[in-house]
Amino acid sequence: MTQLIGLFPTPVMRVEGLIGPADVDALASEVADRTSLTNAYSDLLSHTPVAGDQSDTLLSRLGALVLPKVAEFGEVLFGEALSWQIKEIWVNVLEPGGHQAIHTHANSFISGVVYLTPAHPSANIVFHKAIGGSGFIFGNTNPGARINAFNGGKFAMPQTGAGDLVMFPSYLLHEVPVNKGGRRISVAFNAIPDRLDNFGYAIHFS
Ligand SMILES: [Fe+2]
Repeated sequence: MTQLIGLFPTPVMRVEGLIGPADVDALASEVADRTSLTNAYSDLLSHTPVAGDQSDTLLSRLGALVLPKVAEFGEVLFGEALSWQIKEIWVNVLEPGGHQAIHTHANSFISGVVYLTPAHPSANIVFHKAIGGSGFIFGNTNPGARINAFNGGKFAMPQTGAGDLVMFPSYLLHEVPVNKGGRRISVAFNAIPDRLDNFGYAIHFS
């Protein structure tokens, strides 16, 4: 018997249809014209200011909807049912031609996105392996090489629909390539647990 064992995989959770169609449409029309900040790398991407989840009724409603799934994902990440809170939440409006540069989310453990419109296939979120991280410095990416989970350096989410939620560890590099479809509206958030305890060395977050 030959076994191939995937060690230390990175979890990404996708929840299809978390928000029902009527709520999605209502949220999309409410938030679409609220973005007042232009992205530093793409002037076709705009955001609302980052809000605490209590400071905005609409966003706090959405935060409450995603929180059970955040706790479920957190249990995968840390092996324990912890008490989670949405620390920041904001709206992204990506116009045709816009993109989001590669980045991570600092001072956070779980980050996520709720889609309020379908994402055009060109503008699905793409996750990257850590640049300069562990692994060979040599590579073998060429037309004859078959990409798999072990040699690939990036992963594009399959089609995401309006109402879907995607969550990932906040350290994971991600980007949105140039949007060749219509206006794409999403709500992003960062979440933290109340505490982590490593062999009695605990740290609390608030
Ligand atoms: Fe992000």
